[in-house]
Amino acid sequence: MVAAKIAPSMLSSDFSNLASEAHRMLSFGADWLHMDIMDGHFVPNLTIGAPVIESLRKHTKAYLDCHLMVTNPLDYVEPFGKAGASGFTFHVEASKDNWKEIVQKIKAKGMTPGVSLKPGTPVEEVFPLLDDENPVELVLVMTVEPGFGGQKFMPEMMDKVRTLRKKYPTLDIEVDGGLGPSTIDIAAAAGANCIVAGSSVFGAPEPAQVISVLRKSVNE
Ligand code: DX5
Ligand code: ZN
Repeated sequence: MVAAKIAPSMLSSDFSNLASEAHRMLSFGADWLHMDIMDGHFVPNLTIGAPVIESLRKHTKAYLDCHLMVTNPLDYVEPFGKAGASGFTFHVEASKDNWKEIVQKIKAKGMTPGVSLKPGTPVEEVFPLLDDENPVELVLVMTVEPGFGGQKFMPEMMDKVRTLRKKYPTLDIEVDGGLGPSTIDIAAAAGANCIVAGSSVFGAPEPAQVISVLRKSVNE
């Protein structure tokens, strides 16, 4: 059993009070803080960059799980390392020619490398990054089209999770998009252990209770 990591997506937080939102989520039992980095090019939305990570880092020691939805991930490795990112997860669709260099640099900067795939990308595309002598340590399976919070979970993505769990029993497998109390059981049963949840946590009257439901389902 791979340990559950519950990662509220700060995309659903009040960005004008990011530090207090982060502390609130950690006090509710969050393991990681999921930070969605969008460049307005790889996805049709624009969010935050390294300066915001650097500011937040001054207020917390928490694991900052950075999800880079950007066209040129290599350009972001150094600034994110300096800013204090913990995990650096880039998209396989944006790193066809240079993923080896990206992974190497992420590790050199003291971050944990992860790779993500969009709903239309076959799971086989991440195998080379996992079978390499210098492998990624996390796979983020998108369960919505990246770009926006509050979308509907795509259960058909669970085939990818099952395939990964079977092949890599101890891998951190993260799911992102539409996760909440009504969808967690199918994701957990498929083998996901890192759970990103934005609107279901931030929109709940009792976020702590939602976090605990998510954790329980993974640990069952
Ligand atoms: C979407 C982001 C997600 C998003 C999840 O591109 O990667 O992290 O914030 O939000 P919910 O949980 O609301 O689907
Ligand atoms: Zn994300």
